[in-house]
Amino acid sequence: MTVTAIVGAQWGDEGKGRIIDYLAQQSDMVIRFQGGYNACHTVVNEHGTFRLHLVPSGIFNPHTRCIIGTGVVLNPARLLEEMAEVTGAGVSVDNLWISERAQVVMPYHMLLDGLEEGARGNAQIGTTKRGIGPAYADKAARLGIRAGDLLRPGWLRARLELALAQKNRTLADFGQAALRLDVLLEQAVGWGKALGPRIIDTLPAVQEAVRGGRHILLEGQLGVMRDLDWGTYPYVTSSNPIAGGASAGAGLPPAAITEVIGVVKAYCTAVGAGPFPVELHDENGARLREVGQEYGATTGRPRRCGWFDGVAIGYATWLNGFTGLAVTKLDVLDGFPELRVCTGYQHGSEILTCVPDTAVYEQVTPVYETWPGWQTSTENVRRWEDLPAAAQAYLRRIEELAGAPLRYVSVGPSREQLILMS
Ligand code: GDP
Ligand code: IMO
Ligand code: MG
Repeated sequence: MTVTAIVGAQWGDEGKGRIIDYLAQQSDMVIRFQGGYNACHTVVNEHGTFRLHLVPSGIFNPHTRCIIGTGVVLNPARLLEEMAEVTGAGVSVDNLWISERAQVVMPYHMLLDGLEEGARGNAQIGTTKRGIGPAYADKAARLGIRAGDLLRPGWLRARLELALAQKNRTLADFGQAALRLDVLLEQAVGWGKALGPRIIDTLPAVQEAVRGGRHILLEGQLGVMRDLDWGTYPYVTSSNPIAGGASAGAGLPPAAITEVIGVVKAYCTAVGAGPFPVELHDENGARLREVGQEYGATTGRPRRCGWFDGVAIGYATWLNGFTGLAVTKLDVLDGFPELRVCTGYQHGSEILTCVPDTAVYEQVTPVYETWPGWQTSTENVRRWEDLPAAAQAYLRRIEELAGAPLRYVSVGPSREQLILMS
């Protein structure tokens, strides 16, 4: 039996979607365990190119049961749109299920995400404005609407009444008009009707799969550096992308997780504000952005780009307990004559080798070592032994800094552009 958590080992957008699409070919179940419509997991396979926000990246294998887990915040309207996109490409969504306990992102969450960001002035987090923070805040405040509520109009009305009383007070503070209960209720009941039979208690299916020794993938969103507890708070998302969040969000015991794969780019990118010590403002940063096409797929924002951060990866391995690494986008480095790897953070006279808290993190400068580039294309390489020696050495250095074994090396966005380590 394997229950494998696939999690982001950096600041997000590491290529989790493409790794899950590959592994899902051999998996019985994929459970997305946190996050929401802020995610964009890109999958390129024989069906086309897909940018998945909520639909689990295992959807392309019709035998894989895909579950939107309890830890997710679900925007039903966007999910319906995404399901239509996927089916429009000839891919069935018959095997897509939604936990009745998953939280619903309501229109007021999106509204408040924008208003709250605006109110932060110069201290903006750079959220995706998809209502993620406000929806998780309501979950913690026990004011949330859950997917199962959409199927029970009487219960839903009572829950919405409670939530709306508070939301309308907040909206009034922002000078906004009050939202109407009947309008929201009608909208929410409509989502319930459209998604109805898919909104279920997912636990029995998960239990059956775990007890039956099935192959299960737990799909994380974003990455460790945006984790609510361990990321660069407050420049974080409002859930736990680390493997510890997978158990709660998917609904299985921590000890059932047999593997944790950290997905890590061969360099670094970040979207949104907050400390990012390896960020490059020079021609190397611009080159990484252009060659790697580093533009946020959800918001279109240019991603901040930098050299590989060997300190952050060690921190990620500790917090997640990676049993293996999937290094992606090696091919993006093909043209560089020289590469740098951050091995420490200079803070005053000290060299830090662990990620400090945000106020200190903002003040550090990276300490680099230099590695020779390989200056030849790796896109068509499918075996480790066919990689240039300089690329092998660079990857081994990543492995060493992470303290976790290399399992996969990705050399392009397509499903088959992958090297499996033996
Ligand atoms: P995720 O959020 O972790 O799933 O990652 P994203 O899909 O947001 O971002 C990764 C981007 O890199 C997508 O556009 C992928 O198609 C692309 N990608 C993934 N792996 C590779 C790779 O090995 N090489 C190249 N050139 N692109 C890749
Ligand atoms: P995937 O799954 C990259 C960032 C935002 C912001 C912070 C909080 O594709 O890796 P939020 O909207 O979650 O309240 O924003 O998190 N962010 C992402 N960055 N990839 C994502 O998802 C992201 N989802 C949120 O830019 O810094
Ligand atoms: Mg992404």
